Amino acid sequence: MKYSCIRISICTAVCLILLWSCSRESPPPVHGVLAEHGMVSSAHPLASKVGVDILKKGGNAFDAAIAVQFALAVVYPNAGNIGGGGFLVYRKADGHTGSLDFREKAPMAAHRDMYLDQDGEFISDLSTKGHLAAGVPGSVDGMFQIHEKLATLPMKELLEPAIQLALNGVVLTEQEASGLNYHKQAFIEANNHTPYLVRDKEWSGGDTIFYAQLAETLIRIRDQGRDGFYSGLTAQLIVEEMQKGNGIISLEDLAEYRAVWRQPVKGSYKSFNIIGMGPPSSGGVALLQLLKGLEPYDIRQWGFNSARTVHIMTELERRVYADRAAYLGDPDFFKVPVEELISSDYLSGRFADIDLSTSTPSQAIESNLLGLVESPETTHFSIVDIEGNAAAITTTLNGSYGCKVVVDGAGFLLNNEMDDFSAKPGVPNMFGLVGGEANAILPEKRMLSSMTPTIVERGDSLYMVVGTPGGSTIITSVFQTILNVIEHEMTMQEAVNARKFHHQWLPDQISYEPEALDSITISTLREMGHHLVTRQSIGRMDAVLVLENGWLEGAADHTRGDNTAIGY
Ligand code: GLY
Repeated sequence: MKYSCIRISICTAVCLILLWSCSRESPPPVHGVLAEHGMVSSAHPLASKVGVDILKKGGNAFDAAIAVQFALAVVYPNAGNIGGGGFLVYRKADGHTGSLDFREKAPMAAHRDMYLDQDGEFISDLSTKGHLAAGVPGSVDGMFQIHEKLATLPMKELLEPAIQLALNGVVLTEQEASGLNYHKQAFIEANNHTPYLVRDKEWSGGDTIFYAQLAETLIRIRDQGRDGFYSGLTAQLIVEEMQKGNGIISLEDLAEYRAVWRQPVKGSYKSFNIIGMGPPSSGGVALLQLLKGLEPYDIRQWGFNSARTVHIMTELERRVYADRAAYLGDPDFFKVPVEELISSDYLSGRFADIDLSTSTPSQAIESNLLGLVESPETTHFSIVDIEGNAAAITTTLNGSYGCKVVVDGAGFLLNNEMDDFSAKPGVPNMFGLVGGEANAILPEKRMLSSMTPTIVERGDSLYMVVGTPGGSTIITSVFQTILNVIEHEMTMQEAVNARKFHHQWLPDQISYEPEALDSITISTLREMGHHLVTRQSIGRMDAVLVLENGWLEGAADHTRGDNTAIGY
């Protein structure tokens, strides 16, 4: 009796241990939002709701994208914008693909040495803070061009939700309130008036901000079309604001701005087709180089973030970012050898010296290098509609709240995108990226970007819509997120949540989020010669995955931001 009791207890314990270990090995999958008809994944719940409401009333993915872009300008002012720019990559339900460049431009009065002092030294504050840091905004023209080519609902209906949000006020989340408090002094220093983002008392989550002047600007855009921004009162207010600081954007700059439809860059990873943004973003070219370079290696077998996997991805990244610095810039000003850079011939030579057991010091990587940099405060949204049309938009003011200048009387923030140029070739900008002649400042030129709005097809069908903010880490975050799904069999939400790492050639270091790498992996990588540093947060993805049954999984990064996916 006594022994049978002991046997039963032993059996029970063994079963419990087995159950426990099974459940540890395969925790239940974490899915994002599942929906049948349409999905919007963006940085803010109110913007996602605006997008889904448009889809529900019969708008397509491009109608929703326009409404979300304007809504983000109100509810997410640290990156959502009408005073900045961005890129759209799209795929229509019939398989037709395209991309729109609504990146900012250097003003006509810009010149190569505008951020250098008398001794030729780079004055970094000038390209990041205040009026001189602003490029000519592209977002509003971009939305009108998308509307003309791809949308179905009247523009007035797409602007109305943003106008209502601006008039009725927006309740701040904790994260937004602390962002505003953190930047209070910078807002005061950048403006000659007290912008509505500043008040004596600290902001708290739950407080409401009203955007009366921004509402008036949006109403002018609604009533006058692109002229409501690029000429008339809004343009006048921008130029008056420029004159209060040392800004150089002119009425002519604004009148002349045009977004440009460009061919997306296309390639493949195994049986998946990748559709990415070409120059003046480096995102598509770099992503394709990375994916092609990784194809021969069995990282599925090596495992997620194992030392071998991190090593090979790092070695690819350091070479790709060296190419980025040398060859990428505005294609209207500099011949960017896109096809060569993504060709198999070139890439097999480029990656031939990778050693699977040792890191290559970045100084040993050949590059025509010179200088370039980008800010982590950008935002991305992904949309799929009931027909299967897909829109991936990444948009930015560059730094958090851009150059911190709020246009007096017009109520919106201006970008500090001029810092994305190589202000002094060879000198890293505030985020450590290095770039060269291809990205030197010239009047009316577009500054190089890392934004990587991306669409993935499986066979002939839409599979994934993905993108993220993160400055120079955008490319490597998109790279990892795609691989997390395709190779590591994660759900879209798990792929978004997964902790990430990054290498950008210079500085020669792997930065990683705490928890991305375990201690054995870290010491193995150090033994291979890698330098490792922790970094608080990498990426804040918004993605949509088309599941085998045709349903959509919306994944928004609510672990690093207030991002929210909403479907119906
Ligand atoms: N300013 C961030 C980017 O364009 O990549």
